[in-house]
Amino acid sequence: MQAVVDRGATPAGGIPGRGSVEPFVRRGAAYTGAAIRPAMLTCQKSHFALPEGLHYLNCAYMAPLARAVRAAGIAGIDRRVAPHLIRPRDFFEESDLVRCLFSRIVNAPDPNRIAIVPSVSYGLATVARNVRASAGDNIVVLAEQFPSNVYTWRRLCAERGLTLRTVPPPPHQDGGRAAQWNARVLTAIDRRTAVVALPQVHWTDGTLFDLERVGQRARECRALFVVDGTQSVGALPFDTQQIQPDAMVCAGYKWLLGPYSVGLAYYGRAFDDGTPLEEGWITRRDSEAFADLVRYRDDYHGGAIRFDVGERSNFTLLPMLAAALELVLRWTVPAIQDYCRSLTTGITQTLRARGYWIEEDQWRGAHLFGLRPPETGHTASLSDRLQARHVSVSLRGDAIRVSSHLYNDAEDAEALLDALAV
Ligand SMILES: Cc1ncc(COP(=O)(O)O)c(C=O)c1O
Repeated sequence: MQAVVDRGATPAGGIPGRGSVEPFVRRGAAYTGAAIRPAMLTCQKSHFALPEGLHYLNCAYMAPLARAVRAAGIAGIDRRVAPHLIRPRDFFEESDLVRCLFSRIVNAPDPNRIAIVPSVSYGLATVARNVRASAGDNIVVLAEQFPSNVYTWRRLCAERGLTLRTVPPPPHQDGGRAAQWNARVLTAIDRRTAVVALPQVHWTDGTLFDLERVGQRARECRALFVVDGTQSVGALPFDTQQIQPDAMVCAGYKWLLGPYSVGLAYYGRAFDDGTPLEEGWITRRDSEAFADLVRYRDDYHGGAIRFDVGERSNFTLLPMLAAALELVLRWTVPAIQDYCRSLTTGITQTLRARGYWIEEDQWRGAHLFGLRPPETGHTASLSDRLQARHVSVSLRGDAIRVSSHLYNDAEDAEALLDALAV
């Protein structure tokens, strides 16, 4: 058995200013943005272990663990049985692998711009801590946005005398509702806007936001542009080069197919000299040299590494997340979105014909969409019918949220339509 003395460290190299990760970088497939159409995928159910008879259309709630992700988790737990086998370099290389894989998914050329966070609220708290704003400025959010992306700003507003501008949607009976909602967002941003904090798709019904235009408007007004990618990144292309967010935060357990309690955040140049929420040891420059850790120093590793959560080198969760990101890269994000579209086009056509309201196709994600029943008040009885048919979806706001992935097939679509036949 190899004995590891926790003294001395891996020399830096590979990731600029960080440990040696180049071999891992090459393991990830190249970024495939929206412009490149990869081959159509078939159902990938065999990679998952969902119970027979369950129609799981609820990835927006939580992704089922793929077999490879589960195996990585079990191997991660087993490693702790013999901790001397966990080498000092593992504290760095596994984190850097995850940064590299995620940077490929979101086309961020520098993996150092990716921080490891435990939650979206944590990643956004880092943003809030570094916002420059004064009394009378405003922060722009959407109505019924996910709470982690609202409470953070409510507090900042209360502390600094800012106004929270909540942009409401037009009534959903209106045709072109999402186009009008996007227009309202653009109008809400002005020279006193300090932060624009939006998702790529609305978490309740998949309404799509034109992040390129919103980002452009935010830059014109010198506002920070912050995106919650939780309900889209991994299933809908997100390109940091095109969208140019100042920050983008993403939970890992939904469309990234990872475990709970580890997420990823991209921080752009606006945060290069930012103040982290915690003052840990591992985010300091040269923290690889364990024997020298008591030579305290104030400077951090470059990029966004300073924003990593304490004990970020989780020896179970990070290998799981890496296995999950490798699956996403292998399947490719555009092919996942295409698969979801091909599976759900028939569903949306049939339900519209039955009187359900669903956002226009070009203004919503294909992986996640909301259904509003023809008669209000029907949602509770439909929920019972869905349960009886073993169809797992979510009720969010006034919408039935349906979210599919590569493990879904025609039988799941049929079960959903069956349960929603009123
Ligand atoms: C849009 C969105 N953001 C964030 C989260 C999770 O937030 P947090 O990591 O703060 O629990 C969710 C969970 O459902 C979500 O739907």
